[in-house]
Amino acid sequence: MNEFRKHVIRGLSGRPKKLSSRYFYDERGDALFQRIMKLEEYYLPEFEMDIIRNQSEDIASLLASATKRLKVIELGAGDGSKIQHLLKSFSTFIPELEYVPLDISENILLKNKANLNEFLPQVQVQPVAGDYFQTYPEVVREKACRLVLFMGSNIGNYLLSEAIDFVRKLSAGLDEHDYILIAFDLVKDPRKILKAYDDSAGVTRAFNLNLLLRINRELGGNFDLDKFEHFPTYNPSTGITTSFLISQEKQECQLGTGETFYFEAYESIQTEVSKKYFREEISYLAQESALQISRWFYNQDGSYAFVLFEK
Ligand code: AVI
Repeated sequence: MNEFRKHVIRGLSGRPKKLSSRYFYDERGDALFQRIMKLEEYYLPEFEMDIIRNQSEDIASLLASATKRLKVIELGAGDGSKIQHLLKSFSTFIPELEYVPLDISENILLKNKANLNEFLPQVQVQPVAGDYFQTYPEVVREKACRLVLFMGSNIGNYLLSEAIDFVRKLSAGLDEHDYILIAFDLVKDPRKILKAYDDSAGVTRAFNLNLLLRINRELGGNFDLDKFEHFPTYNPSTGITTSFLISQEKQECQLGTGETFYFEAYESIQTEVSKKYFREEISYLAQESALQISRWFYNQDGSYAFVLFEK
């Protein structure tokens, strides 16, 4: 049985019902996510670009004081357009630079390589397609001074304990004095956070509902999208945004293979968590992963950070 089917059956059979945001990203989900990234209410890409624009040279000179050869491994690299400026600064400070973008999509990696060859022909690009949980251990095996990049606040889709596990795994492949640079969305005005996940144009709503469409399309499901509402929440004491789809009535939904899921009126399906970090939690994460924090790089209002960890 395919992974998605297994996941849906497990996630919708019991209570509380839960699906993973990992399955948001089919072709339509990718396109919706690209639209989200351009929404004014979804402030994260702009905050990240602010750090890249204003602090790439500081990051590069800090690394250059430690090494003249650097292999930059980026997890979930996409088309690489967002970090071009960062790599440009690295290339002016570090004579031997190699860039290894990892992404599930081979197409996007071709774009990544072409973009970078044009923009920074002096940087060697070695894309590796596949699930980065599988490709990372192989890529990291080759010795070099390494910097692992995990941008886009993707760490936010893990809870703190899961993030610690994840960072420990990244670190396990590294040697002493290798680095990991992670982008964290920090806690900020709860209203601003909530709006980012509840945009007025309804793109995030469509992004969440796309999970049900995907079940209909790929698993022959009969979910009626008009009978589910998107309901995002933010808890300022934990820094966790949790998104739900709420069944608007008592109903039964089925997969093409006959599995039936029963919903009470107003029963929820949890679809995503997006954690916003307290600084103290990031220090705790470093401690639990046996990493040192070399430096914090902030955006202008101090509510988004790149944290450079050294093994
Ligand atoms: C990919 N990830 C960091 C995004 C987030 O903010 O959690 C996904 C997203 N979900 C709703 N909007 C964007």
